Amino acid sequence: MNTETGTEAGTKGSYWLETAPPGEPAPPPPHDLSVDVAVVGGGIAGLSAAWELTRQGREVAVLEAGRLAAGVTGRTTAKLTALHTLVYDHLRRTRGPEGARLYARSQSAAISHAAEIVEELGIDCEWEEAAAFTYAEDPGGVAELRAEAEAAREAGLSADFVTETDLPFPVAGAVRVTGQAQFHPRKYLLALADDLRRRGGAVYEDTRVVGLSEGEPCVLTTDAGVSIRADEVVIATHYPVFDRALLFTRLSPRRELVVAGTVDEALAPRGMYITPEQATRSVRSAPYADGKRLLIVTGEHFTPGAADVEERFARLSAWAQDRFPGLTLTHRWATQDNDSTDSVPLVGPLHAGSRHTYVATGFGGWGLSGGIMAAGLIGDLVGGRECEWSGLYDPRRLASVIREGGSFLKHQAHVAQRFVGDRLPPLTGPALEDIPRGEGAVVRTDGRQCAIHRDETGQLHAVSARCTHLGCIVAFNSAEQAWECPCHGSRFAPDGQILQGPAVRPLEKHDI
Ligand SMILES: Cc1cc2nc3c(=O)[nH]c(=O)nc-3n(C[C@H](O)[C@H](O)[C@H](O)COP(=O)(O)OP(=O)(O)OC[C@H]3O[C@@H](n4cnc5c(N)ncnc54)[C@H](O)[C@@H]3O)c2cc1C
Ligand code: FES
Repeated sequence: MNTETGTEAGTKGSYWLETAPPGEPAPPPPHDLSVDVAVVGGGIAGLSAAWELTRQGREVAVLEAGRLAAGVTGRTTAKLTALHTLVYDHLRRTRGPEGARLYARSQSAAISHAAEIVEELGIDCEWEEAAAFTYAEDPGGVAELRAEAEAAREAGLSADFVTETDLPFPVAGAVRVTGQAQFHPRKYLLALADDLRRRGGAVYEDTRVVGLSEGEPCVLTTDAGVSIRADEVVIATHYPVFDRALLFTRLSPRRELVVAGTVDEALAPRGMYITPEQATRSVRSAPYADGKRLLIVTGEHFTPGAADVEERFARLSAWAQDRFPGLTLTHRWATQDNDSTDSVPLVGPLHAGSRHTYVATGFGGWGLSGGIMAAGLIGDLVGGRECEWSGLYDPRRLASVIREGGSFLKHQAHVAQRFVGDRLPPLTGPALEDIPRGEGAVVRTDGRQCAIHRDETGQLHAVSARCTHLGCIVAFNSAEQAWECPCHGSRFAPDGQILQGPAVRPLEKHDI
C-alpha cells in the first residue's frame, strides 16, 4: 500500500488531494531572478506568508520542491481551532497567564483572518463553523480536562467543561470551545495562490532549494542551479532545510495515520474532536455526496521509521468502525508534523544574527491556524511592524526551552542513540534472499550500510542507508513503501528520491 498516492483494498490516498487534484505543475524558474521576498515551501505557512507579503506590495516568489499544498497541508485533518488538545494548562504553567492569553489571541485571530479571506475572495472551500472538543472516555482524564477548560477560559476562549457531545459513544468529559471552523485546505490555498499570481506574485513548482547564502541580498540556489536573489527569505519547508540555529535540536518529528470513510449524514458528528488517549484519536466530518458525510479519523502517532505501521492502520480502522457503526472506509493516508520541545511553534528570525531570514516550524499538529498565524507574524516582521505575540513564538527564545529541559534532553538522547548506535556495525542483517517482496532492510555490504528494497517484481534496489541530512540510518516503512529517518523525519522513495525534508539531496544509489 502506498498512502502517498496509491490504492489497495478499495482505499484511496488523501481525500484533499483527490478532490482538489494538482493540475499541470508551474514550471521552475527558467533563469536567475531577483525578487523582494523569496518564500521557500508552498504549504499553508509558506503560501499564506507569500499572500500576506504580496498584499503588502512586495514582489514575491514561492519556490516549492513538489506541488503547492501537497505536503503535510495536503494530508491534514483540516480543523481550524485555537483549542490545541491540552495546551492552555501547560502554557499558563510554562509561559504564565499572559503567554496563554497571547497564544489564544494569536490562534483565534488567525481563524478570523482566514474567515475574512474566504469571504473577501469568495473561496468555495467547504468552510463550516463548528465547536472544537478535547475529550476523555476514561474518568481518570476528567481532572485534566477541567483544568484545561479553566485555563482556556482564562486565556480568553469561549471554553467550558461538558459531558454531552454529538459523538455516538459516551465520554467522561470534554472541553468545548465554540465558534471554531473546518475547511478544505487545498481549495482554500489554491485560491490564495491564484490571487497571489493575479497580484503579480510568482509560483515555481518542482523547484527544490538546496542552498542559502545570507546577505544583502540573500541568494538561494535551486536543484537546477538557478539563483534567486531576494531581500528577504522565508523558510517554510515544514522542517527547516537551513538551520544555523540548530533548531533540529528542538524539533521532533511525529508521524500519524489517517483513515476516512462515509457515514449517514444524520449519524455524522458536527463537532471536531480530539483525545490524547490511545495515542491520540482526532475526529471530524466533512461534506460529501448522496446524504453522506466523510468521517476523518486520525491517530496512532509514532516516530518515522517504525516497523509496525500496517498494524497501526489496522488498529485505527478497527477503532473507527467500532465507534462509528455503519462507517464504510474509503481512504487512508499518513503524514507527520514536528513538535517543539516547549509545545510552542518557532516563528520569526531564523537565528540570532538573522536580519533578512525567517522561519515558521514546530506546529505540533496544529499548523493550520498556526501557519496562518505565522504568515501574519512574518508579514509584520518583514514590514517592520510590532506584533504583540512575536516574543511568544520567537525561535531565539531560551527561557522556556531551558524550563522544558526534560523533553529537550529526551529528544537529544533519542537522536544520539540513532546517531551513535547507527554507526556500530550491525551484528546481524538479513541475507539479501531473505528480504521479501515489498520490504526493505539495512544490510552492511563492503563496509557500507546499504538500504536494500525488493520491489513487487522481485528486483532489488540499493541506496545508501545514511540520511543525507545529518547522517542517521534510515529504516523501511513497508506500509508506505518509504525509507524514513527517525532523527528528523526525512523520507525517501525506494530509489532514494526525496519525499520529505529536511534532506535536500537524495540517498546515493549503490550497486548490489
Ligand atoms: C495527521 C495530521 C493531522 C493534522 N491535522 C491538523 C488539523 O486538523 N488542524 C491543524 O491546525 N493542524 C493539523 N495538523 C498540522 C498541520 O497540518 C501542519 O502543521 C501544517 O500543514 C504544516 O504546514 P507547513 O506549511 O509548515 O508544511 P507543508 O504543508 O509540508 O509545506 C512545506 C512545503 O515545503 C516544501 N519543501 C520542503 N523542502 C523544500 C525545499 N528544499 N525547497 C522548496 N520547497 C521545499 C514541501 O514540498 C512542502 O510543500 C495535522 C498534522 C498531522 C500530521
Ligand atoms: S533527517 Fe536528520 S539525519 Fe535524517
